[in-house]
Amino acid sequence: MKRKENAQITEQTELAPGIWSLKLRTDMASEAVPGQFIGIYPKDGSRLLMRPISICDADPETGVLRVVYRAGGAGTKEISSYKSGEDIDILGVLGNGYDTEAVKGRKVILLGGGIGIPPMLYGCRVLKKHGIECEAVLGYADSNMFLKDDFEAVCGTHIATMDGSFGTKGTVIDALNEQGVKGDVIFACGPMPMLRAIKSYAADKGLEAYISLEERMACGVGACLGCVTKTVNTDHHTHVKNSRICVEGPVFKAEDVEI
Ligand SMILES: Cc1cc2nc3c(=O)[nH]c(=O)nc-3n(C[C@H](O)[C@H](O)[C@H](O)COP(=O)(O)OP(=O)(O)OC[C@H]3O[C@@H](n4cnc5c(N)ncnc54)[C@H](O)[C@@H]3O)c2cc1C
Ligand code: FES
Repeated sequence: MKRKENAQITEQTELAPGIWSLKLRTDMASEAVPGQFIGIYPKDGSRLLMRPISICDADPETGVLRVVYRAGGAGTKEISSYKSGEDIDILGVLGNGYDTEAVKGRKVILLGGGIGIPPMLYGCRVLKKHGIECEAVLGYADSNMFLKDDFEAVCGTHIATMDGSFGTKGTVIDALNEQGVKGDVIFACGPMPMLRAIKSYAADKGLEAYISLEERMACGVGACLGCVTKTVNTDHHTHVKNSRICVEGPVFKAEDVEI
């Protein structure tokens, strides 16, 4: 159920330059599905809109939900200044995540690029919990490799860096090919050029692929139509070939969206 909640910050740490890990105590931790996201509200009234951030991890037992985000613009920079013990308003749980039940009996390759890496960690944890085989391929710009140790503790992990300072030089697809990673289904999140390349890679190899579109959002709850993406089929809500990323997505079957 979507709701606004005042959550307590239990930890805020900088993992790499400009990349922050924020842990919150919230009831939403028991409802979160991999690929879903929360909206975090800056406290400065001049920044009204929530910032959509993917769930990186959630523990129903402790009630702690983790997000990892880049402090790039004014809102996320403000959020990175909050300290443990402070309160923060969040909206959640939002969106439609990866269907981890539907991939039972198959091997999943998790592909994360840049700030698309965090949601793959929760995906990996939930797949493992359900006994589903998976491996992760993570793509970074350089050797500032946030969350690498967290992945290595849960699943086989392969690395690509654009500058070649670690792992395969190039993209996650270069690493897939060079490091011989094989699987049946792809779960991916990352920048749009990476998602386009994955869509075409999956089509070439006959793999099923699910991609998360982290595009600009405003309301986050389906009301403003500010986040629509073109779809192959007619959407049941809009009755045109469009879907709202914040409600029907952010995770879509790659072949169902025109990106
Ligand atoms: C479903 C989803 C999940 C995301 N998960 C993550 C994540 O796990 N980690 C992470 O670092 N980033 C994530 N993003 C991107 C993140 O939401 C933006 O980087 C952030 O909102 C930008 O806010 P700002 O205050 O830094 O910039 P500002 O320039 O101050 O933002 C201005 C406005 O534009 C919106 N906006 C700007 N860029 C984006 C964007 N790329 N996506 C959505 N809204 C945007 C902001 O929400 C805000 O309303 C996600 C985006 C979406 C849609
Ligand atoms: S952000 Fe308003 S409909 Fe998606």
